[in-house]
Amino acid sequence: MSSQNRTTIALGVAGFVLLAGLATTILMRHREPVRTANTAQTTTSFSKDYDAVAMKLDPEDYEVMEPVCTRCHSAGFILHSRPWSNWQGVFQQMYGYGVQATPEQWNHIYRFTARYLTLIDVNDADEDELSAVLGVDEKTAIAMVQRRSDRRFQSAADVEAVPGVNKAVIEAMKPRLTFDKFPEGE
Ligand code: HEC
Repeated sequence: MSSQNRTTIALGVAGFVLLAGLATTILMRHREPVRTANTAQTTTSFSKDYDAVAMKLDPEDYEVMEPVCTRCHSAGFILHSRPWSNWQGVFQQMYGYGVQATPEQWNHIYRFTARYLTLIDVNDADEDELSAVLGVDEKTAIAMVQRRSDRRFQSAADVEAVPGVNKAVIEAMKPRLTFDKFPEGE
């Protein structure tokens, strides 16, 4: 191969790499939403899937939550269970990012996250956490703490047996109830 040919090929390759790079930059700029941390989770089809999952869990609460909480990212960010203390940190963080919601809207958001996305150890949580997450009044929360100091809760049925506890709520939360402190970070 003559050196002129080699130079032509090299220039061609360099030009192609440059153009491809430029095109990628422009495309990425164009696709990047305003305040999103993870673009992989925010393509439209995924967003719709996540919304459908959330809506199925509780249309009444999620209808209120959706416009408030999916303005900057998809529900894919939200649909991971975590302890209540962890959720409180998230709410504060989102508030800092500029979430705008009325007290009424927050009530729906709290109820949805507590009921479908919160891990709770019913033998460990204090009264405040029990009432916030399980939706029981203070008297019932105190009764739960008394009950477990006699005999620890061993099943959802044990919890449902406490007067004042809403059976349907406990049934919905069953997969996220634990009876021995769950490992940190799960
Ligand atoms: C004003 C924009 C905005 C709104 C509105 C918003 N978020 Fe976020 N959210 C963010 C950003 C930005 C991140 C990424 C933060 C990061 O990576 O540190 C995020 C991340 C998250 C995460 C992941 C946090 C983690 O550490 O795993 C959760 C959960 C979340 N948001 C929940 C919500 C909920 C619930 C709402 C509605 C109450 C909401 N977000 C509304 C901007 C927003």
